[in-house]
Amino acid sequence: MNEIVSKEQIAPDTWRLVVRAPEIARRRKAGQFVVLRVHEKGERFPLTLVSSDPDAGTIELIFQAVGTSTKLLAALQPGEDILDLVGPLGRPTHIEHFGRCVVIGGGYGMAPVIPIAQALHDAGNELVGINGARSADHVILVDRMGAICQRVEVCTDDGSLGRQGFVTAVLQEMIEADERIDFVLAIGPTPMMRGVAELTRPNGINTVVSLNPIMVDGTGMCGGCRVEVAGETKFACVDGPEFDAHEVDFDMLMRRQRMYDGLESDATRMFKPHSTPLDAPAHEGCCCEEDRPDGK
Ligand SMILES: Cc1cc2nc3c(=O)[nH]c(=O)nc-3n(C[C@H](O)[C@H](O)[C@H](O)COP(=O)(O)OP(=O)(O)OC[C@H]3O[C@@H](n4cnc5c(N)ncnc54)[C@H](O)[C@@H]3O)c2cc1C
Ligand code: FES
Repeated sequence: MNEIVSKEQIAPDTWRLVVRAPEIARRRKAGQFVVLRVHEKGERFPLTLVSSDPDAGTIELIFQAVGTSTKLLAALQPGEDILDLVGPLGRPTHIEHFGRCVVIGGGYGMAPVIPIAQALHDAGNELVGINGARSADHVILVDRMGAICQRVEVCTDDGSLGRQGFVTAVLQEMIEADERIDFVLAIGPTPMMRGVAELTRPNGINTVVSLNPIMVDGTGMCGGCRVEVAGETKFACVDGPEFDAHEVDFDMLMRRQRMYDGLESDATRMFKPHSTPLDAPAHEGCCCEEDRPDGK
């Protein structure tokens, strides 16, 4: 069950896993994700299905080890099982022939960009990729982007690879140069996705972001992933995770992402990869009540 078939470190804090999950492999579509649990006392957390091989019955996950759960996952070895793995979850991406698309990934966001970029490419779109990271050793998946994009722009915060600066600077130049852009996809840290939304809004460029709120069950039951889009309440796990970037309430998203900051830092501080890791707090129960003005 959910056996790790192979494991490869692709950046200092980033791993690629191939996991046996035949049912998920058969049904996966671009934009969908799984919810995992690695330890009996651990939290559930989402990772994008980067690709699947239905014949081999395997799925591909690529993740940054940023906290307790992802570090626990990174500590598993080939031959070991992932305790729980549920999916495919979320709505598949809406794919059509848009024309010329800009696909932007920042940090961990490059992993979720890959399956959508591949599907856009397969639908006959012309792609320009913008791949951003902190520094050269954190830049991932350039080869895979290169295989499907006409051009890939790499940028790093410290200038150690590609151009120095943020992905938004490249997009801004493209817009100012009047390059044809029919569709933009941006996935990464919330401030980055908001920055992209603000750049494309004045020109009305069709822009989609994949939101990353806290998710618990991934089935629309717990309310943890509640977001506001076009003034309406949505649950990112079942209504998304992709939404029109110009309609997202990013302030609310960021506020809710910070809900567990204290618990997450405590858990990370207490984390020891080779001992029982989680007497630490987990995300338990419902987290949907705290900031609804109407209390409903
Ligand atoms: C639909 C979706 C797809 C994702 N796909 C990928 C992926 O392919 N690769 C990847 O590296 N990361 C992905 N993420 C982010 C990943 O889920 C978080 O990095 C992970 O949950 C962090 O957990 P942690 O315990 O290791 O870190 P923590 O220390 O607990 O948290 C670090 C940060 O991760 C976020 N986070 C924590 N718990 C959750 C949770 N249950 N759900 C969502 N976010 C959480 C918070 O913003 C937090 O500040 C995805 C998130 C979403 C919503
Ligand atoms: S994770 Fe979306 S409602 Fe629980």
